[in-house]
Amino acid sequence: MRVFHGILLSVVGCQAPSLPDYQPADMRFSVPALADTVAAGSATGAVSVDGFQIVANVDGALVVLDPRSSTPRTLRAVGPQVWGATSLADGSTLIATDEGLLLDDVYLQPSPVQASLPSPALQVARRGGAIWIRTAEGLSVWRGGALTSLDWDGAPLTAPFALGAAESGIDVVWTANARGLVAIGETTEGWAPVATLKGVSVSSVAVDGAGVMVASTPDGLIVRREGAWSAWSLSAGDARVLANPSRRGLWVASSDGLWWTDSTYFKGMVSLPEGAMLPDAALSVDAVGRLLVAGEGALVRVADRPTVAVVGLRNLASIDGETTVAAQSTPADGVTSVTMTVDAAPLEVTDGATTLDPFEFLDDATHRLEAVTTWQDGVQAVGVLDFTVGSVGAATWVDNVEPLFQARCAKCHAGSTQTRLDSAEAWETNVDLILDDVTQRRMPLGGPALTGAEISVIRAWQEGGFP
Ligand code: HEC
Repeated sequence: MRVFHGILLSVVGCQAPSLPDYQPADMRFSVPALADTVAAGSATGAVSVDGFQIVANVDGALVVLDPRSSTPRTLRAVGPQVWGATSLADGSTLIATDEGLLLDDVYLQPSPVQASLPSPALQVARRGGAIWIRTAEGLSVWRGGALTSLDWDGAPLTAPFALGAAESGIDVVWTANARGLVAIGETTEGWAPVATLKGVSVSSVAVDGAGVMVASTPDGLIVRREGAWSAWSLSAGDARVLANPSRRGLWVASSDGLWWTDSTYFKGMVSLPEGAMLPDAALSVDAVGRLLVAGEGALVRVADRPTVAVVGLRNLASIDGETTVAAQSTPADGVTSVTMTVDAAPLEVTDGATTLDPFEFLDDATHRLEAVTTWQDGVQAVGVLDFTVGSVGAATWVDNVEPLFQARCAKCHAGSTQTRLDSAEAWETNVDLILDDVTQRRMPLGGPALTGAEISVIRAWQEGGFP
């Protein structure tokens, strides 16, 4: 047990776990990688944002690939290199490029946040009201208009980071520096290490939707699962690990090949797309867990099993007009049928797409759209999208959200027993958690659930930038 800066938390300081005798190569079974083409051309940086959009540099141009449109939206014909991207609460996109942070909001412009950074951002990710930014100088967090640089015992955190699951009840960000691997979280004393592993040299780190953290070292992979450490040796120690924090499963790309793992077993991917030079070609993981890979002359999506994504609408978004959503199946070849339902009622589907009309779903609730793709061999996959209906008018804290809080949450969340949610700031910081809890009907505790219209109010306030 180690205590940092006198903080009385359950701070974990461990030695590197010893590597077990087995290797993934002993455990793996191989499956064909299922792939489909996202864009023709040579892609150098491609990041999946917002569940269904991809920001990429294709043939030298900075583009947004949006499955709702058959042609890419060109942000700049001769574009910068893309290192990372994240969607902001108002629906705009923050893009980390070699020219600095750019904001795609109606038109492309430099982001004002870049002025606070020492050099162009290499990685960006948003969680709630905070944006995590890594530059060559280290990791910082931008919140409420201020940038805080983070370190570990005075040493900057320069390794790639991954938004992680909770450690000791605190949401953390996993990263590393020359001292080792560390999870940084916001404690009552400010940002501090919540879990550490000293003496390891980490080149990449990823956390999946099941809360499994995998870090790549020259000797192999270090895994943290449910608070316990383990390790896997790899014959090629140059692996890159990638995951989507909302999806179970991690990708391990090394010069030996590509694996999908849930950390208990490894599936080796055979017959990769032509020209995929791992690990550099592995770019990012989308919201249904597919890996974007730069192949020979094309950007491809690789899935470890037949997969369908419902695209065109952000999960949990509210619709206030006719909205087209489509089923995006991997592999795209061999699909014999696509069916869709909303709340189990069938929808008319044309070419794998359907149009949602908000007037058909007038009851206040969260609706669930399910898409089922069937392939030639009878294999099926299901994709899910939750949405609500409501006019996304302007909502403010004083007029809309605070009255909702007073009516439905204050009896438990205004005092010191439960998480305090009695200020606009507390709601802004926790907005993703709140939306998740109310749409999943975990809150208000004991019910009744919020109506679709009430949830739309929270979302409209978020989309309006928390006025
Ligand atoms: C009857 C009491 C009660 C009501 C009403 C209630 N909550 Fe909670 N809430 C709790 C308890 C108990 C917890 C668990 C302790 C904690 O994390 O604070 C909790 C936890 C939470 C959390 C943190 C969950 C997490 O994963 O960390 C959020 C966010 C939340 N509530 C939001 C709301 C919102 C928004 C409302 C109103 C729409 C609401 N709650 C109404 C009792 C209540």
